[in-house]
Amino acid sequence: MAKDPVRVLVTGAAGQIGYALVPMIARGIMLGADQPVILHMLDIAPAAEALNGVKMELVDAAFPLLKGVVATTDVVEACTGVNIAVMVGGFPRKEGMERKDVMSKNVSIYKSQASALEKHAAANCKVLVVANPANTNALILKEFAPSIPEKNITCLTRLDHNRALGQISERLNVQVSDVKNVIIWGNHSSTQYPDVNHATVKTPAGEKPVRELVSDDQWLNSEFIAVVQQRGAAIIKARKFSSALSAASSACDHIRDWVLGTPEGTWVSMGVYSDGSYNVPSGLIYSFPVTCKNGEWCIVQGLSIDEYSRNKLDLTAKELSEEKDLAYSCLS
Ligand code: NAD
Ligand code: LMR
Repeated sequence: MAKDPVRVLVTGAAGQIGYALVPMIARGIMLGADQPVILHMLDIAPAAEALNGVKMELVDAAFPLLKGVVATTDVVEACTGVNIAVMVGGFPRKEGMERKDVMSKNVSIYKSQASALEKHAAANCKVLVVANPANTNALILKEFAPSIPEKNITCLTRLDHNRALGQISERLNVQVSDVKNVIIWGNHSSTQYPDVNHATVKTPAGEKPVRELVSDDQWLNSEFIAVVQQRGAAIIKARKFSSALSAASSACDHIRDWVLGTPEGTWVSMGVYSDGSYNVPSGLIYSFPVTCKNGEWCIVQGLSIDEYSRNKLDLTAKELSEEKDLAYSCLS
């Protein structure tokens, strides 16, 4: 029997990531090849014509799984009945703007969209925040949508996770699908900690630790970390725009694994509400290793953390606490 369609909201749908993401969702890459979808696309009034153009292209692409498209600048219409919300819309940093100015614009957007989601989304709607500062926007959304379960509000660090897999695969000249269990800890920013201490590679002789296969500790402890931390900036430098196809693809990975589950023995990185695991302060949206089953994520427990890693986990937590304070000062 055919499944009922799932309603998926994409905010900022006329932007770069939106343009890459909506066809992926309509093709079944996010929710599976047997899952019909109805796309809800939100953007702001100046982008209304472009948004309508995206809608026209979705119709023209004749996606079999796409059962409807709502393209709107009305946040209530956009949020009504949605089961999944991918929050990409936001205010980009412009020349001469201070960090606080960008934060201020974005946290007030996320505060008001939190209320719309809380009132109008389907019960148990799952939320993924992509727009930067992703962790702090997600935290503000959580704080101003108190009736949405905190487990349902997450942010994207899967792109960083995938970047880490990509770097290891290039270095070892192995298939990226044979590398697993890297971890991104903390903020989606240059203080994030890409950790390979528990990562493995599938080889003909079984699974081997990345640290055994990459004998160059110096590369793993410095260049690898810096490349992953700085990859977003490197893409902006090369393309003059921030990452879009990789961000869209990683957003699909994040939701697919959350909804359909992670493979046995594999974890992924998600920005989730901290419960104090690994002595990360609770009350932050922080990226942890998680496994997913039956539509729920669960932080992987019991991993050993050496002193070097501990300092890195604490540093990125400190940045997130500062961002949280800044966000609240912008709202007051
Ligand atoms: P973009 O500027 O091309 O698109 C953003 C869109 O959001 C625009 O169409 C804009 O009109 C719209 N928008 C602005 N305010 C809005 C509002 N209040 N409601 C709805 N829509 C609104 O930007 P992009 O390249 O698509 O990137 C989007 C965001 O994602 C940026 O914040 C970027 O920094 C972030 N990003 C995050 C990651 C990650 O891994 N977390 C990766 C890449 C980019
Ligand atoms: C990325 O990681 O590619 C983006 O978050 C970079 C950015 O600043 O938009």
